[in-house]
Amino acid sequence: MALETLPMLRLSTESISRLSGEIREMAKARNAVILAHNYQVAEVQDVADHVGDSLGLSQEAARTEADVIVFCGVHFMAETAKILNPGKRVLIPDLDAGCSLSDTITGAQLADWKAQYPGAVVVSYVNCTAEVKALSDYCCTSGNAEKVIRAIPEDREILFLPDMFLGAHLERVTGRKMHVWMGECHVHAGIEPEDIDEAQRDHPGAELLVHPECGCTSSTIYRFADTGLVRVLSTEGIVRRAHESDATQFIVATENGILHRLEKEVPGKEFFPASRGAICQYMKMISLEKLHASLRDDRYEVDVPEDVARAARTAVERMIAIS
Ligand code: 13P
Ligand code: SF4
Repeated sequence: MALETLPMLRLSTESISRLSGEIREMAKARNAVILAHNYQVAEVQDVADHVGDSLGLSQEAARTEADVIVFCGVHFMAETAKILNPGKRVLIPDLDAGCSLSDTITGAQLADWKAQYPGAVVVSYVNCTAEVKALSDYCCTSGNAEKVIRAIPEDREILFLPDMFLGAHLERVTGRKMHVWMGECHVHAGIEPEDIDEAQRDHPGAELLVHPECGCTSSTIYRFADTGLVRVLSTEGIVRRAHESDATQFIVATENGILHRLEKEVPGKEFFPASRGAICQYMKMISLEKLHASLRDDRYEVDVPEDVARAARTAVERMIAIS
């Protein structure tokens, strides 16, 4: 059921097998590592060296000994890999793979915001540009945001950006008041309380695995708190919970690319998308053919100016250390 929501069945099995074989050969010849986010199309996930969430992929990028990193994800993720590896070649198969959430704040906007709150600590969710990271004290991902906020002394004001739903969730779980930027991801903001209700009606008793960027996060926790069925998790946290939980049915509220990994790694359990429309067109810009062309033609290189990368590195390294 879940797989039909993904626009990925265009290539024949023979083409997937041929392209995948050639990709693996080229990656070996170039000492390249292929990193793929959990929202990538199935065949890209299947050919990658590592599949994971933003935090896990940043950790892989930080520890890799490969000469080339091919990032199958969106642009800010490849930039983060470059910030951590200034001496390596970082490629993204399509330079237009952006992120609507990252687009909600520019470096100039952050500089203005900081000027209004001198002395405040700036915590940036990793979904932002290198320029924004360079003006931040800490980065975090959905996998470690709570720990990052708890690591900041109680007496310091916090500017949190750019996701307002994650910001509201963090305020609730940590009890910390923050100034929160009003950004959102169009895919997750579009997962409505009504979608959860409908999925719940169809699968009563299923555990609800919700990504904190979802517009429905607060209302879902509030409405289903006494059932014990709701978990708010990063994409990797969702995969981990599916392995560990005694439940056999799950409603998954995030981008639907993750269903491939869940179905592949957790056989015998059932996964239902909270919203069939939860598909990120930016993540889906990366295809097996473009990954093949990327390795073959050495394109497209992601670069971050050295001064920006130097300024951003501290915030990103703090994110990796607090995990
Ligand atoms: P994760 O870090 O949980 O994988 O989320 C990344 C993202 O882009 C969510 O939309
Ligand atoms: Fe950005 Fe949303 Fe796509 Fe994640 S799902 S990459 S936050 S647009």
